[in-house]
Amino acid sequence: MRIILIGAPGTGKGTQGIFISERYNVPKISTGDMLREEVYLKTKIGLIIKNIIAQGQLVPNKIVCNLIKKRIQKKDCINGFLLDGFPRTIKQAIYLSNINFKIDYILEFIVPFHTILERISGRRVHTDSGRIYHIKFKPPKIQNKDDITGELLTIREDDKIESIKTRLEEYKKIHDPLINYYINLHKIGHIKFFQIDGTNSVSLIHKKIEKILNK
Ligand code: AP5
Repeated sequence: MRIILIGAPGTGKGTQGIFISERYNVPKISTGDMLREEVYLKTKIGLIIKNIIAQGQLVPNKIVCNLIKKRIQKKDCINGFLLDGFPRTIKQAIYLSNINFKIDYILEFIVPFHTILERISGRRVHTDSGRIYHIKFKPPKIQNKDDITGELLTIREDDKIESIKTRLEEYKKIHDPLINYYINLHKIGHIKFFQIDGTNSVSLIHKKIEKILNK
């Protein structure tokens, strides 16, 4: 099963991605996580993209495509994978299709702007595991600590208001061409495309996703 999650920042791709990965036993591959790791490790790529990410802009296609190609060729992707945050541009979508990884499902999450702001501003993350919390909607058992390790939670560098605005603007620019590309593939039967109301509760969205993927 090969799945792509599309949606503006804060629409729940990461949250639902963790669920899908565990439920269907496919690795969750988040370009955001991969790029943040490059920054954390201060690799050559990390140094190039540090400011781009912090400002909320898109990292150049070439860098992201190379990372993804290497990652999806790994052994654990043999039975499928879940892409969270890739492709994000038409160029990336065409690249993925040209390297011959046929995608089964595209799930697009839709959430209004004001809800997105509330979600991102309350997000806390456990960097090492990728576990995602929210101070109001999904608080950790102990304030500001990861439920499993007890380590401190952090706020993402790009979750500051100025970066959020840029990220949302970037998303608006790429949304229509990317979605139309996949809707056209859906129409000719090459993929299955679904839109999901991301304003529902996390558990209700789990159920909706199961209904789609278990068909
Ligand atoms: P990335 O890490 O992909 O970030 P994003 O797309 O902006 O998405 P987020 O991680 O912010 O949100 P999400 O949809 O995963 O929501 P979450 O589940 O956390 O990208 C970061 C940056 O990397 C980009 O800006 C760019 O610079 C670069 N980049 C990445 N991929 C790239 C690419 N392909 N090309 C170029 N550049 C790239 O949920 C948010 C909050 O809401 C959480 O606190 C959560 O607990 C809460 N929540 C989730 N669902 C619900 C719900 N149903 N009800 C209530 N609360 C909820």
